[in-house]
Amino acid sequence: MNVLVTGGLGYIGSHTAVALLERNHDVVVVDNLYNADRDVKERIEKITGKSIKFYEGDCVDPEAMERIFAENDIDCVIHFAGYKAVGESVRIPTKYYRNNLDSALTVLETMKNHNCNVFVFSSSATVYRADQKSPLNETMELGASNPYGWTKVMIERFMEDLAVADEDFCGISLRYFNPIGAHESTLLGEKPVGIPNNLMPYICQVADGTLEYLHVFGDDYDTPDGTGVRDYIHVVDLALGHVAALEKLYEQKGMFKYNLGTGRGTSVLELVNAFQEATGVEIPYQIEGRRPGDLATVYADPAKAEQDLGWKATRTIKEACASSWAFQQGLKK
Ligand code: NAD
Ligand code: UD1
Repeated sequence: MNVLVTGGLGYIGSHTAVALLERNHDVVVVDNLYNADRDVKERIEKITGKSIKFYEGDCVDPEAMERIFAENDIDCVIHFAGYKAVGESVRIPTKYYRNNLDSALTVLETMKNHNCNVFVFSSSATVYRADQKSPLNETMELGASNPYGWTKVMIERFMEDLAVADEDFCGISLRYFNPIGAHESTLLGEKPVGIPNNLMPYICQVADGTLEYLHVFGDDYDTPDGTGVRDYIHVVDLALGHVAALEKLYEQKGMFKYNLGTGRGTSVLELVNAFQEATGVEIPYQIEGRRPGDLATVYADPAKAEQDLGWKATRTIKEACASSWAFQQGLKK
């Protein structure tokens, strides 16, 4: 297949591009470099020994998208392009609704003009209404607690409507739990701008001395050690989930939804311990108050993906910690 990967120089997109190339698919990437470095293209090519076609462009720009489809025979799209900072989405909702909704709409409209019907979407565990008990499965109620999350719910809704209106459409929504880790080559990984919001990048910056200590947001949750529990999934497993979904559902029509998670919950302190064991680096931390909006426990029921797609996460938390740290060390060289 010739796959257009939007946002393909970003964290998850770059790993997915590698996974696609390793399965002998062709890859075209469009990215506006809002949150990615240009040299990620060469890194993808170095890992795989294959070349990709890269367009620096914006998915909200119909002319740019039109050109990409006119110049390439695209079979399907994996749509990663979007903004993802929850806190910023609360402060500047317009920015999030504009970019996330507009980019999805523009890509889908352009696809239709070119009779390209298969759209894989980066959704999130955040689409599950917060009052439901983990493990979360795909039949549970949707709802969001911030503008970022609502953009995911709305795009899924739009895909549902398209699947009704257009009998050729194949929409695949992949609901990621908490991606961590990096490619074993150390050439690809997560590189947040500014002070990280998410736990693993924060731990990595404590480990390399950029930040002094980890702030643990609450130890009074109803969890085994009182700290928040999440489903951390290695980004390479996540990338392979995209390839499995595409290869399995490419010929199908309709709307499909899958959790991509491990089914295992890990607490903040367990992740800190796993990181210390995997890397030998000590992570000083202080317990602080809860972060507003956080839930005690969120993890996936990944059974549907295993059953339908033959995919499941196999990499361990320790492997993820070791690879995140190896990538982080490379940044300082
Ligand atoms: P990322 O920021 O590393 O990647 C997104 C990429 O899209 C970046 O390279 C950015 O430059 C590009 N981009 C943004 N807007 C664009 C536009 N209008 N046109 C072209 N390119 C654009 O983020 P990521 O962690 O790789 O996440 C990818 C997708 O997965 C996002 O949609 C995100 O919401 C979703 N997601 C991420 C997580 C996570 O924890 N990382 C969890 C659930 C869902
Ligand atoms: C966050 C996003 C969610 C997104 C997910 C993807 C929020 C509110 N939610 O989820 O929409 O889909 O990332 O990965 O931002 N923690 C600390 N100290 C820190 C950072 C985090 O103790 O410095 C704790 C949190 O309280 C939580 C856990 O670590 O218990 C994981 O936090 P984080 O990595 O931010 O992910 P989520 O909150 O699950």
